[in-house]
This record gives sequence, C-alpha cells and structure tokens, in this order.
Amino acid sequence: MKWTLFIVVILLVRIQPEVLAEQQLSRQDVLNHLLNTSRYDSSIAPNFEQDTATNVTIQLFVRSIHSIREISMDFSVDIFLRQKWTDPRLVFINMTDITRLELDQKLIDKVWVPDTIFTNEKEAAVHSITVPNKLMHLYQNGTVFYSARIGMTLSCHMELQKYPLDSQFCPFYMESYGYTTENLIFHWDTTKAMEITEVELPQFFIESDPYFDRCDKDYGEAGIFTCLEGGVLLRRNTGYYVIQVFVPSILIVILSWVSFWIDIDSTAARISLGVLTVLTMTTQSAGARSQLPRVSYVKAIDVWMATCLFFVFGALIEFAYANVTLRGKKKMNGAPTAVQGSSVSVSIVEYTIVELPLKNIYTCVRLKS
Ligand SMILES: *[C@@H]1O[C@H](CO)[C@@H](O)[C@H](O)[C@H]1NC(C)=O
Ligand SMILES: *[C@@H]1O[C@H](CO)[C@@H](O)[C@H](O)[C@H]1NC(C)=O
Ligand SMILES: *[C@@H]1O[C@H](CO)[C@@H](O)[C@H](O)[C@H]1NC(C)=O
Ligand SMILES: *[C@@H]1O[C@H](CO)[C@@H](O)[C@H](O)[C@H]1NC(C)=O
Repeated sequence: MKWTLFIVVILLVRIQPEVLAEQQLSRQDVLNHLLNTSRYDSSIAPNFEQDTATNVTIQLFVRSIHSIREISMDFSVDIFLRQKWTDPRLVFINMTDITRLELDQKLIDKVWVPDTIFTNEKEAAVHSITVPNKLMHLYQNGTVFYSARIGMTLSCHMELQKYPLDSQFCPFYMESYGYTTENLIFHWDTTKAMEITEVELPQFFIESDPYFDRCDKDYGEAGIFTCLEGGVLLRRNTGYYVIQVFVPSILIVILSWVSFWIDIDSTAARISLGVLTVLTMTTQSAGARSQLPRVSYVKAIDVWMATCLFFVFGALIEFAYANVTLRGKKKMNGAPTAVQGSSVSVSIVEYTIVELPLKNIYTCVRLKS
C-alpha cells in the first residue's frame, strides 16, 4: 500500500510539469511547431484533402482614390485588402493560452494564402517601404487574417454621353486565378464589405454607399471561378467646368452679339469680331475635349459647344446677309455708296506720301465729294 502511494506520488510529480509545459508552449515554439515544413506545406490549400472549399472572407478598405483619368479610362487607388479564412492545420487551441499570434512579414511566406487577383488591374504593387506592407494574424481556432496594402491602377469603363454632368461607376473585380469553386470560394465580409475614407478627388465626389456583389465566372474548360465585384459610384463635380468652359463660352457668344450694335458700314470691325469669336469658340471646344478619349458617340459637351459655335457663326452670317441686303436697297434707291465711289465726282484736296520704316509706301489721299 505504501509503495503504491509512493509510486503514484512520483508519477504525479513527474507527469504534472510535463502536462503544464505542453499547455504553455512559448509563442516561438508554437510557431515552429505549426509552420514546421515536415507537417505544414504552404503550397497546399487548407481543405485540399477534403471535398469542401475554403471560404475566404474579403474586406476592402479603400484608403484613397487619387486619380480618375477619362483619356485612359482608369483610376488609381490605395487599398488594404483584408482576407480571412480558416486553415485547420494551424489550430493551436491546446498548446497555449495565447489567443492570437502576430506574424512577421518574413513568416507570412510560409503560410498558404489565396491567389487573389484583380481582373481589371492595369498595374499594381504591394508597397514595400520599408518592408513589404503585409500583416498576418493566426487565431487559436485556425483562422488566418491576412492584410496587404496595395497601390493599383484599375480600368474603369466610362460612359461619357453626359460628360461633364456624368456619374461613373468604377469597379473592383476579385477572382481566384488558380482555384476553381471546388477549392476556393470568396465571400464579402458581412459586417463591412467595403470602407472608403479620405477620398480627396478634385473633380469627383462619392455619390452613394459602396456597391458589392458576386460575379462567379464560368471559363468553360478551365472551370468555374469564384469572383467578387465591388465598386463606387462617383459623381463629377461640375464647378471646374462652369468656371473653365461654360462661363467663357457664354461670354464669347454674348461678345459675338456686340457686333449687332456696330454700324453696318464698319465692315472691318464686324468681320474681325465675328471671325475672332468663331475661332475662339473652336479653340475652346478643342480644349474642352483634349482630356477625353476619341469616342464615337456625341457627348453633352459637344452639344453645348456646337450650340455656342452655331450662335457665333450665325452672328457672322447675319452680318454678311445684312450687308448684302443693304447694298441691294441702296442700289435700288440710287444713293451713292462707298463702293460706287468711282461714279461720284471727287476732287483731291491734298495728298502726302508717307514712307514707313518697312519700306511700304502708302498714299494718303483725302477726298472731297
Ligand atoms: C520539424 O518536425 C520534425 C519531426 O516532427 C523534427 O524532427 C524537426 O526538428 C522539426 N523542425 C523544426 C525546424 O522544428
Ligand atoms: C463554406 O461556406 C459554405 C456555405 O457558405 C459551407 O457550406 C461550407 O461548409 C463552408 N466551408 C468550410 C470549410 O467551412
Ligand atoms: C484540446 O483538449 C481538449 C481536452 O483536453 C480536447 O477535448 C480537445 O479535442 C483538444 N482540442 C484539440 C484541437 O486538440
Ligand atoms: C476564430 O476566432 C476568431 C477570433 O476569436 C473569431 O473571430 C472567428 O469567428 C473564429 N472562427 C471560427 C471558425 O470559429
């Protein structure tokens, strides 16, 4: 009996510290154990052996949208792409009391991550000053939280029919490149799918809450791929166009009407005013279109500019018509006109020859009728 008790006490003393030690592994030991290449292979998807797909929850945090270009139909953004999924191989519930581990960005390469791509991307980069801007958290239950800061230029198809009174929808399309829906499925985060802050666009403001949806794609032989679609509706701020386009063109049209007050016989003044306003209008409309792609449809700005040009041109034509009609009337009345000068008896009162530095000789003649 005594011996049995002794053995039991010995066993307890020997076993208790080991059990405790197993429950309280240091963080480094947990990581070494989890990411040991002989038990964990980062090139294999979490549920590769099972028939279920890995669910990846995605959240976009749009830090800034900094330029929207009509000419190339694209926009530049700076985002945090946050992805969350569960990897059963990374569960460490019974190893330690720590609820989560924060990984260094060098260790991130040792963990499997989804192969997310932005299908409408033109160019993109993960910021890497001073180290690649990535973070990863591992939770006890095997949940992995992965975030990366990405700067991207994404294409955005624009409908410019109403330009510059238009709104543009600029989307984000996220797809898995290598895994079909049998292995990987994306979901939008249910609490906050897309968040947008600090948008300081000189020409646009955000019209409504971000839009998000699914867009799974069937590529035939390659299979069905998971896809998420999100986007922002941006409305153009017309202040710039009022100051730079609308007000100047209105003034030019009014200026062309000034010629109606000028004497009809002042041909030089009226013709030059008319031609100048027509030319200015042409330059204005070319300037307004210089930042736009050469689309084949008619835009609102074209209608505006064409209308202004029509008014200005009309003022010039009105003068030509009035001049011709007046001349005809004068001819019928038989009144002497400037044009019929030869038939009016005149006598030269005085004349001088003026020699100008440019060797052009003018004869100034004062006529007396
Ligand atoms: C990985 O695990 C194996 C066997 O469990 C072990 O022999 C090896 O030392 C471990 N490697 C590291 C780096 O911990
Ligand atoms: C993924 O989500 C679907 C339903 O949304 C569920 O049926 C499936 O079990 C989930 N897969 C995993 C591995 O949790
Ligand atoms: C953790 O330990 C408890 C009890 O010791 C056990 O029921 C559970 O299955 C263990 N969990 C894991 C993931 O090993
Ligand atoms: C795992 O733990 C995290 C943090 O405690 C929690 O947000 C998440 O829902 C858990 N995941 C599962 C699959 O239970």
